[in-house]
Amino acid sequence: MPTIVFASPKGGAGKSTSAVLLAAELAERGATVTFIDADPNKPVSRWGSRPGKPEKLTILANITEDTIIDTIEQAAVETAFVVVDLEGTASMMVGYALSRADLAIIPTQGSQLDAAEAVKAIALIRRQERAFAKAIPLAVLFTRTSAAIRPRTLKSIEAEFLSAGIRVFGTQIHEREAYRAIFAFGGTLTGLDDTQVPNIAAAMANARAFAAETVAILKEPRPAAAERRVA
Ligand SMILES: Nc1ncnc2c1ncn2[C@@H]1O[C@H](COP(=O)(O)OP(=O)(O)OP(=O)(O)O)[C@@H](O)[C@H]1O
Ligand SMILES: [Mg+2]
Repeated sequence: MPTIVFASPKGGAGKSTSAVLLAAELAERGATVTFIDADPNKPVSRWGSRPGKPEKLTILANITEDTIIDTIEQAAVETAFVVVDLEGTASMMVGYALSRADLAIIPTQGSQLDAAEAVKAIALIRRQERAFAKAIPLAVLFTRTSAAIRPRTLKSIEAEFLSAGIRVFGTQIHEREAYRAIFAFGGTLTGLDDTQVPNIAAAMANARAFAAETVAILKEPRPAAAERRVA
């Protein structure tokens, strides 16, 4: 079923964190999810090797350029969602994963410099669309934003994306200790201890909103004209 690929050449943009939040939320709501950890540094496999990973979430690692497409296609047949996390570079592997995406999510922090990296990711996706003669829906996701304030720079960057016809998630992934804690301790937000980590309820609501918006985007009909698959 649908494949969601997290991509950005910017290291530390929030790909792995956002991808785990999404995959864990889907799996805890009862969906089967394959997480393809296509980053050779395997940050998500390390997270998954600790206790508390949802039962319905399977993590696959040791993915190569040669295996990524088959791995995605097989996982899409076997599970309700496929989530792919990539390393922060532009490689053949990134291009191949994007070619199989039903939705490419481009996490970015809210500065102009970060946004410039997101623009590079979008340009790469547009090139993959041409190379594979296939539409690849994409959306920018602001990460590590403040839950309390919405700075002017962020608003103006968002406006620039929107005026260029680029979709931006209404939900932002806020900067939260809980999102670091799951990588430190393993498991999901539901397993955190609220005497040790602040604002878990808000972190859960934020992750839930992100997953719901992702599912809603995936349910939208694709414009027929954009489906230019080569027969
Ligand atoms: N929403 C958030 N709240 C708090 N910390 C965050 C958040 N998102 C990311 N981080 C922290 O920022 C750092 C980079 O995040 P992450 O590993 O998710 O980025 P990445 O895009 O996957 O990086 P890479 O390109 O190296 O794979 C990590 O230390 C992570 O814990
Ligand atoms: Mg990562």
